[in-house]
Amino acid sequence: MCDQLKIHSLISFSVFNQVAAAPLQPEQCNGGAIGGGGCNKVAVRCHPALSTEKKASIRGVVGELMAAAAGGNKEEKKSLISLGVGDASSHACFRKGGEFAGEAVADVVRSGAFDCYAPSSGFPAARRAVADHLSAGARHRTRHADVFLTAGGSGAITAITTVLGGAPGANILLPRPGFAPYEAACEIAGAEPRFYDLLPRRGWEADLAGVRDMADGGTAAIVVINPNNPCGAVYSSQHLFQIAETARELGIPIIADEVYAHMVFGESKFVAMASFAHIAPVITIGALSKRFMLPGWRLGWLAFCDPNGALKNVRTATEMLLNVTAGPASIVQAAVPKILSNEHNEFHRNVVNLLESAADTLYRRVNQIEALQCYSKPRGSMFMMVEVNTSLLFGVEDDMDFARELIKEESVLVLPGSVIGLKNWIRIFFGAPASVILEACDRIEAFCRRRTVEVKLLKRKF
Ligand SMILES: *Cc1c(COP(=O)(O)O)cnc(C)c1O
Ligand SMILES: *[C@@H]1O[C@H](CO)[C@@H](O)[C@H](O)[C@H]1NC(C)=O
Ligand SMILES: *[C@@H]1O[C@H](CO)[C@@H](O)[C@H](O)[C@H]1NC(C)=O
Repeated sequence: MCDQLKIHSLISFSVFNQVAAAPLQPEQCNGGAIGGGGCNKVAVRCHPALSTEKKASIRGVVGELMAAAAGGNKEEKKSLISLGVGDASSHACFRKGGEFAGEAVADVVRSGAFDCYAPSSGFPAARRAVADHLSAGARHRTRHADVFLTAGGSGAITAITTVLGGAPGANILLPRPGFAPYEAACEIAGAEPRFYDLLPRRGWEADLAGVRDMADGGTAAIVVINPNNPCGAVYSSQHLFQIAETARELGIPIIADEVYAHMVFGESKFVAMASFAHIAPVITIGALSKRFMLPGWRLGWLAFCDPNGALKNVRTATEMLLNVTAGPASIVQAAVPKILSNEHNEFHRNVVNLLESAADTLYRRVNQIEALQCYSKPRGSMFMMVEVNTSLLFGVEDDMDFARELIKEESVLVLPGSVIGLKNWIRIFFGAPASVILEACDRIEAFCRRRTVEVKLLKRKF
C-alpha cells in the first residue's frame, strides 16, 4: 500500500526545496541573530490576521479565564469543573465501551505496515470506510473518491476555507453564534467572514432572509453546522431544504459541518445536508473527535456531494492543496475501517443517552435561575447557549465578567459568548457525567443567588 507513494513524495520534496532555496529578501538579516548585534532594527512582519490585536480565540480566552482563577487561596478552592471547551474524552463514562478504537490502532501499529506516508487524500480503505459510513441509511451515495481525509475536522475547515476563500474578493457566510475557527480560517485565507444570525426564539434556525441580503457576487459558500455547536439545535428536514433552496438561488455551495452527526436526542432526527445536494452542492465536514470522543487523534474528512458536477475544479484544487499539506497520521487512518464499522452501536447509544440526560438537567436547572435563560432545550451536540441578564447581577457587566467571576468564585469554566459572536450569552458544554453537571448547576446557582441578593440589598438601601 505504501510503495505507490514514493514518487509523489519525491515530487513534493523537490517543490519544497525550491522554496527553501529562494534568495533572501534584501531586508532580511544575513547572519547575526535578530535582536542582537547590528540587526535589531529589522521589523519581522507576520500575517496581519495573526496579530494579537485581532479578536481573541476560544483557547486564548479560556487561558485568560484560567489565569484569572489561578490567584486566591488555593486551599479553599473547589476543584475545577470545565464546561468551557468541547472535550469529553477525560470522563471515563464516555470512554467505556470505546476501547475498540484503541485496539484498532494498536493492531495497526503492531503490524508495522503503516509507518509509511499515507497518500495525500488518505488511504483508499479509510476513504472507502468514510464513504460507506456517510452512505449508510442516506438518500445520497458517497464514493471513496469523494472523500478526503484531513487532520481533524479543523483540518477540513482550514482546507476548504483555503480552497474557496482564497479566491480574490471572496467572502464566506458563517453562522452567528458559531465555531470560532471558521472566522480565523477565513481571515488567514484572505476571505471576508460575513455573519448570518441564528435565531434563538426559532430553535436557532438560520435567518435566511439575512443570508440573501448579505450574499453577493463574491460569496463563495455558506457554512451550516448541524447538529449545532454552540446552540444544540438539530435542523428539521424542512429547514435544511430551505437552506439548500437559498444556496441554489445564490449559486453557492454549502459547507455542511456535521461533526456532531447522529448525536441527537429524543425524537430528533439527524438529516444529512447532502440529502439536498441535488438542489445545491454540499461539502460535508466530519471527524472522529466528537462522536467517538477522540479529539486528540486528529482524524477528520471532507466529503463532496455534487451530483451535477458543479464543484469539479473545487475538488481538484482541494486535491492540489492536500498534495502539499500534511494529513492525518497514517496509523489512525489505517484504523478507520474498524472504528467506523457498525459494531459499536451500544457505545454510541450510551454516549447519546448520557449527553441527553446531561442536557435535560442543565436546561431545567438553568431556567430556574432568574438571571439565566435558555430558550430551547438542546436536541443534539454537546452545547447549549444561555442568555445572561446582566442587569440582575451585581458586579457583572457582560459575559466575560460572568465567566471570570464564576470561575474565580466557583471554579466552573464556561465560554463567554462574545468569543463566538453573542455578547451577554454564555456557552455551556454538557459532555460530562451527571454528577459533574449537577455539581456545576449547584455552583452556578449559588453564584447567581449571591450576586442577585446583593442587587436587591443595594436597591433597598437607595
Ligand atoms: C469540534 C468541532 C470541529 C472540529 O473538530 P476537530 O477536533 O478538529 O476534529 C468542527 N466543527 C465544529 C462545529 C466542532 O465543534
Ligand atoms: C496529487 O498527488 C497524486 C499522487 O501523487 C497525483 O496522482 C495527483 O494528480 C495529484 N493531484 C493534483 C491535483 O495535483
Ligand atoms: C432582565 O431582567 C429585567 C427585570 O426582570 C427585565 O426587565 C429585562 O427585560 C431583562 N433583560 C433581558 C435581556 O432579558
